[in-house]
Amino acid sequence: MSGKILVIGANGQIGTELVRALRQINGVSNVIAADIHNPAQPHTAGPFEHVNVMQDTELHYIFEKYHPTQVYLLAAMLSATGEQFPKKAWDLNMQGLIHVLDYAAAYKTPKVFWPSSIAAFGPNSPRDNTPQYCIMDPNTVYGFSKLAGERWCEYYFNKYGVDVRSLRYPGLIGWRSAPGGGTTDYAVNIFHEALQNGKYESFLSADTALPMMYMDDAINATLQLMDAPADKIKIRSSYNLAGISFTPAQLATEIKKHIPGFEISYSQNDPRQLIADSWPRSIDDSYAQNDWGWKLQYDLPAMVDDMLINLKK
Ligand code: SER
Repeated sequence: MSGKILVIGANGQIGTELVRALRQINGVSNVIAADIHNPAQPHTAGPFEHVNVMQDTELHYIFEKYHPTQVYLLAAMLSATGEQFPKKAWDLNMQGLIHVLDYAAAYKTPKVFWPSSIAAFGPNSPRDNTPQYCIMDPNTVYGFSKLAGERWCEYYFNKYGVDVRSLRYPGLIGWRSAPGGGTTDYAVNIFHEALQNGKYESFLSADTALPMMYMDDAINATLQLMDAPADKIKIRSSYNLAGISFTPAQLATEIKKHIPGFEISYSQNDPRQLIADSWPRSIDDSYAQNDWGWKLQYDLPAMVDDMLINLKK
């Protein structure tokens, strides 16, 4: 059963959307969704395998069964949950990646995708227009698991020839799936609360700018990166990806244009504020633009417009 595309962590925020997009392009039966939990959503109907990335034997089974041509490894613990369970986050985020890279090397998997994050940067990185190459020093477990993961990806490319590709995603915003346990989750929750209750209490302060991206752009970037000829991929750690940078106050102002009575308030002393304060405010993604032609489509007004149209349905 070769020629299949395998998405591990298929039920998560990115996986839900990526499986859908890959199935539209490649056909439902050619995309194997794999996750530790059974799929809950009807739109994930299609081939499914239960897999725990911590279990070497389960991964072996799936590589042996499908000999996948592409593997997307999306199973991970995000920043805020990671601070509650530091060792568990490290184990899941690292062991999962190393297991998959090992099987990709052993089975000569043609292409592997693994997501990094803006969280790979830290308080000593330049905060504005953060360059591809600079001081990293991430100070969350999630962040340094991403930085270490980037190093492993580059290492497996150089040492074992695994064609692994990666993006440092900004906070991702989509209407089909919910994030879980992240610092950028407010920017998804706010839409649901605005429509349901007309108000939202943000756990980040009014002026906390973070790089964010609409899910459609994130999926396009991922597919474009994976489609690019191997010689165009000059960076084998992970590419900066900028998206749109805004604060909770700016997002609220944009939402108010559609829901005039919408009110935002701000909570104090949320632990996620410290995480956000250690991350870039905006990102320079010129390497992605120059190497494989990346171009963003959704700005803040377009993203808000599309989110509200779809969530209202
Ligand atoms: N969105 C993630 C988080 O907030 C960052 O990659 O944890």
